[in-house]
Amino acid sequence: MGKNILIISASPKKDGNTSLLVEWVAAAARSKGADVEILNAGTMAFKVSGCTACRACQKLKDYICVIEDEGKLVLQKMISAHVIVMATPLYFYGPSAQLKVIFDRMFSLYKWDNAAGTMRTPLKGKMLALVLSGFEDVGLDVVEKPFRMTADYTGMMFESLLVPNAGVSGEIRNKPGVKDLATAFGKKIA
Ligand SMILES: Cc1cc2nc3c(=O)[nH]c(=O)nc-3n(C[C@H](O)[C@H](O)[C@H](O)COP(=O)(O)O)c2cc1C
Repeated sequence: MGKNILIISASPKKDGNTSLLVEWVAAAARSKGADVEILNAGTMAFKVSGCTACRACQKLKDYICVIEDEGKLVLQKMISAHVIVMATPLYFYGPSAQLKVIFDRMFSLYKWDNAAGTMRTPLKGKMLALVLSGFEDVGLDVVEKPFRMTADYTGMMFESLLVPNAGVSGEIRNKPGVKDLATAFGKKIA
């Protein structure tokens, strides 16, 4: 049975560079037998603008964010995925705000016992994969770092596809070699 891959596509541009990269990665992963689901977080209606640090999730037995919106469903789907792909454009040397909302609300997928110094999470053992493009060739490594560090902290494997010089939305289609890189990446994570 193939891997279950969840792609969180977090650009507001429907036919932009992130969408194209996601399309290529997904097609390649499916060609290897993976079951791929793509969620468009870039256009989701979030009830709040980020994690509210209410810590209500920490009082629950289950790994659930208490904020009732589409973001909650994305988090739930992460639990059953083998591979979680986060795809984002580079926005001022950070990920898109839409992805950051999901990323911070991942807090609900951890249970900390500060007194005992322990942390449990169903994300452990999964793979986190970052797909990132920018107009220039500056700062993609900066954005990669918090994702890689979070994967390390969580006990997840980490892979990344960084695409510099991607042009403005949609121009990535005409950049030589990028589709091949995305295809190879899709096969690798599957
Ligand atoms: C708000 C905003 C901020 C951006 N900031 C950067 C940046 O700091 N560095 C960079 O190289 N490109 C930057 N870009 C360009 C995008 O990262 C790049 O064109 C990306 O491939 C677009 O992906 P998309 O079509 O999925 O939106 C920015 C674009 C926007 C709209």
